[in-house]
Formats: sequence, structure tokens, C-alpha cells
Amino acid sequence: MQNLTSGELVIQVVAMPADTNANGDIFGGWLVSHMDMGAGVASRRRANCRVVTIAIESLNFIKPVSVGDTVCFYANLLKVGRTSMRFKMEAWTLSLQDTLPKKVAEGIFIFVAIDEEGRPCPVDRD
Ligand SMILES: CC(C)(COP(=O)(O)OP(=O)(O)OC[C@H]1O[C@@H](n2cnc3c(N)ncnc32)[C@H](O)[C@@H]1OP(=O)(O)O)[C@@H](O)C(=O)NCCC(=O)NCCS
Repeated sequence: MQNLTSGELVIQVVAMPADTNANGDIFGGWLVSHMDMGAGVASRRRANCRVVTIAIESLNFIKPVSVGDTVCFYANLLKVGRTSMRFKMEAWTLSLQDTLPKKVAEGIFIFVAIDEEGRPCPVDRD
């Protein structure tokens, strides 16, 4: 279903004029950065330690985002490895014109739990 959000709401923000591209829509890099931050919030909470992005495996921009839309970022934890966590991230917009939320982007983000020296450490520790 295109109008059903899923996962944990990790960031909610209004898209501003400063975030636009040359077409006047919201810049794709702004969306990616928020999806990355959202996965960072969820992975940090899951591992309860520092985390870093190691890979973005896929990314699809589905619909353009307009200035003034509220953009909601959802994190779905797909898999926990020894030191890594794999998330499906989704971005959805709410606008004053549309009654239903619209999925505008989705992607797979991989995070790694790291210790104080920046080395991978187990997600689940005693
Ligand atoms: C993240 C980092 C500490 C990992 O170090 P590393 O020695 O390469 O780690 P490993 O090879 O042991 O891999 C760690 C985990 O990531 C997984 N992994 C490694 N490369 C991957 C890739 N390209 N895609 C998906 N998973 C990957 C491994 O399978 C392993 O998972 P597991 O422990 O759950 O089995 C290091 O690569 C790094 O510091 N990268 C820069 C991170 C960064 O600056 N990110 C951007 C800003 S946050």
C-alpha cells in the first residue's frame, strides 16, 4: 500500500526554501542526509553506543518534495549482525493539499556500532 507508513518515526521536519534545487523542489541530498540521520538515531538507540554509516545500498526517489511539506522519516530495522545494523528508511510527506501521506523516497542504510577508538564493536554486548 502506497499510503501506509511503517517503522519508527525518527525525524519529522518541514522542508524549507533553503533546501531547494534548481527546479524549486527539495534537493535530493537533503533527503538523503535526513534518511542517514534518521537511521543514525535508530541505530544509536539499538546499539546504545557510537555508530557510523558504512553503506547505502539502494536509494529511490519516488516523488518530488515541495517547500512547506512536512517530511517524516521512518526507520525499519531489517537485520542485526554482529557489529552491523541494516535499516530500510522511508521518507513520507504530509501537505496541506493532500489528505493522505505520500512516500517520496526509500533506501537501505547499513550502520556499524563502534567503540571509543572507532573500531567495530558488537551491537549486543553484555
Ligand atoms: C565503519 C568502519 C569502522 C568499519 O570498519 P571495518 O574494519 O571495515 O569493519 P568490518 O569489515 O569488520 O565490517 C563491520 C560490519 O560491517 C559490515 N560491512 C562492511 N562493509 C559493508 C558494506 N559495504 N555493506 C554492508 N555491510 C558491510 C560487515 O559485514 C560487518 O558486519 P557484521 O559484524 O554485522 O557481520 C570503517 O569502515 C569506517 O570507519 N568507515 C568510515 C565510516 C564513516 O565515516 N561513515 C560516514 C560518516 S558517519
